Amino acid sequence: MQKLKLIYEGKAKKVYSTGKPDLLIQEFKDDATAFDAAKRGTILQKGVVNNKISTKIFALLESKKIPTHFVESLNDREMLIKKVGIVPVEVTIRNIVAGGMAKLLGLEEGIVLKKPVLEYHYKDDALHDPLINEYHIEALGIAAKPEMNTIALYSFKINDVLKEFFLKKGLILVDFKLEFGRFKGKIILADEISPDTCRLWDSKTKEKLDKDRFRRDLGNVEEAYQEVLKRVMA
Ligand code: TMP
Repeated sequence: MQKLKLIYEGKAKKVYSTGKPDLLIQEFKDDATAFDAAKRGTILQKGVVNNKISTKIFALLESKKIPTHFVESLNDREMLIKKVGIVPVEVTIRNIVAGGMAKLLGLEEGIVLKKPVLEYHYKDDALHDPLINEYHIEALGIAAKPEMNTIALYSFKINDVLKEFFLKKGLILVDFKLEFGRFKGKIILADEISPDTCRLWDSKTKEKLDKDRFRRDLGNVEEAYQEVLKRVMA
């Protein structure tokens, strides 16, 4: 499948049209941003790492009956995907308090939650992806109630599958972000799942092996991404 035209460029990915109207090519870049692009940088080989990890995870989720936009891997940085209409809601699932939840509620990072927390954020960088709930989403017509039920169901199932998967690799899945889209009237998982969109801590040392190393200037950013890739592929 050939790339025809660049139709969208985001902070971490480019999307191209193909000869088929239902299919797009998603290319993963090395560009890294944080705090709604207030901080910018490059993580060498991140695009390759995130493409490979996302490919592996989408295939795993498909095998567990979670529909995704993934069609096939094309090369180191590109995958063929289904063309969805993105639901402009970022779904966050949290197993352990960190990042935004620690800040919002004045909590210590590392508190293990009694049950997973699901959050919705309205996807709008200029507004800093504000926290919203099902009422906002339904009342503003962002998505319908049955669609949100499906999104919540898939998100918790994905958490169950990924928590177990990562733990076998010596990684604790602290939290992660998902995006969903509509394809032929059905909700499917879109975007990516990678160290950009998950918090992953080494299960023995609790060392951060994700984008927090970039966000917080912790050093060894590339090394952490390579380590996650190595473990995911092992
Ligand atoms: P948060 O604690 O900053 O809200 O992040 C929760 C999870 O979502 C974390 O695993 C990182 C991921 N995330 C993204 O993928 N994109 C974003 O823009 C933000 C803020 C977080």
